[in-house]
Amino acid sequence: MSDTIYIKSKSEIEIMRQAAKIAAGARSVGRQAVRDGLTTRQIDKAVHEFIVKSGAKPSCLGYAGFPAATCVSVNEEVIHGIPGRRVVHNGDIVSIDLCATYRGFIGDCAGTYPCGEVSDEAKALIEATRQAFFEGIRFAKVGYRISDIGAAVQEYVEGKGYSVVRDFVGHGIGRDMHEAPEVPNYRTERRRPDPRLVKGMTICVEPMVCAGGWQIEILKDGWTVVSKDRSLAAHYENTILITDGEPEILTMADDI
Ligand code: MF3
Ligand code: CO
Repeated sequence: MSDTIYIKSKSEIEIMRQAAKIAAGARSVGRQAVRDGLTTRQIDKAVHEFIVKSGAKPSCLGYAGFPAATCVSVNEEVIHGIPGRRVVHNGDIVSIDLCATYRGFIGDCAGTYPCGEVSDEAKALIEATRQAFFEGIRFAKVGYRISDIGAAVQEYVEGKGYSVVRDFVGHGIGRDMHEAPEVPNYRTERRRPDPRLVKGMTICVEPMVCAGGWQIEILKDGWTVVSKDRSLAAHYENTILITDGEPEILTMADDI
């Protein structure tokens, strides 16, 4: 990945808003498809169809060889689950992660959703993961550095007794799905570069949280990331824009 941080112009930001809006709509469709008896492939199909119907392209399909539009990760699967024949059942938690390319720019978002009634532990993990994003973006403002976001995410997550994944991080986004800078969800004060936030940056903040330890394993399919101790995991991500004031959550939707 190039080290260049691309600051977006007004007109580029306008397109980013449109791409992100489609991604957010697709996440809502995925969330509604998390139903007892549906396969992860059916969830992916609903998301894929929405993206195409919106005039966009599913950016994950074919990215580094990923075979679908949507990453669908169940229970102890953290991220990058490949949609397939697996059936989701009441009590499962399902993470949906997707990107949409529209007029050359990409929107990226993710969320973890319950299938039917889930345990109180699962509900609390989902809610803490979502809240960790909001804790992090309190520092997504001019005057702070990238590491301030991760420090806030980690502090909140660990305060709840959970852990935050280290092996995968958030990222800049624009014409490419993954642009500089990396956006870790944990403390990295001593890591350089640690860029200052600048108006016009577009980044993805995406806490990946495990109920147990933070260590992960990648399954034999080469993609699916699971918690090493097989504890439940959740993911929450939005594409945001750094402004003069509060960050703008570009992948905002009514039901995020
Ligand atoms: N949307 C993911 C992210 O947050 C990337 C998915 S990996 C892919 O970066 F291969 F599926 F594209
Ligand atoms: Co992302």
